[in-house]
Amino acid sequence: MTASSSARHDTLLQLFQAAKVIPVITIERVEDAVPLARALVAGGVRTLEITLRTAPAVDAAKAIIAQVPEAIVGIGTVLTAADLAQSRAIGAKFALSPGATPDLLDAAFNSDLPFVPGIATASELMAALARGFSITKFFPAQQAGGISALRALGGPFPQARFCPTGGIGAANAAEWLAEPNVIAVGGSWLCPLADIKAGNWDKITALAQAATK
Ligand code: 3PG
Repeated sequence: MTASSSARHDTLLQLFQAAKVIPVITIERVEDAVPLARALVAGGVRTLEITLRTAPAVDAAKAIIAQVPEAIVGIGTVLTAADLAQSRAIGAKFALSPGATPDLLDAAFNSDLPFVPGIATASELMAALARGFSITKFFPAQQAGGISALRALGGPFPQARFCPTGGIGAANAAEWLAEPNVIAVGGSWLCPLADIKAGNWDKITALAQAATK
């Protein structure tokens, strides 16, 4: 690890260990962003992943960064070097990807923005580790073999730490978090699209409270 990759690693480790649960957020209307972030923060969930899956995602992330200072905003679904550069430019604190191309790993290696590549196989994890990324997103966690797959990966790669996402919810988050190499879990269960659409902010605060108690 270089000095800067070790600094990025330490930042991520602290952020994720403090967060424990990270909502994977899809924003369809920019005006929902700030009330949603406030609802999550009110429930004790401060570290957020705003996915680049919708047209208003970047403006939504900017609005949260500007108006909800308690929130720690990360950008998810970062697929290209340009996405990574944009995430840094708008002031995100970290970025995540469902996978990692060689181009994206190169860009992240050369950026000071803490980055979490996605992996689902030993070879993908080896490519991430080779560039100094020992914190990865195990995605899609449940579908790619669940906890037994993660345990199997832990054998040859004891230094790896994971944020599993995909198929994680209120019923199984605690089980994943009990794994010694899991530092946080992510998922969309904390912010259901129907509740965002309906403005059910109190319900989202309650989901966040339940996830962090
Ligand atoms: C992700 O990008 O991390 C996943 O889409 C989240 O998966 P979930 O909707 O099953 O929580």
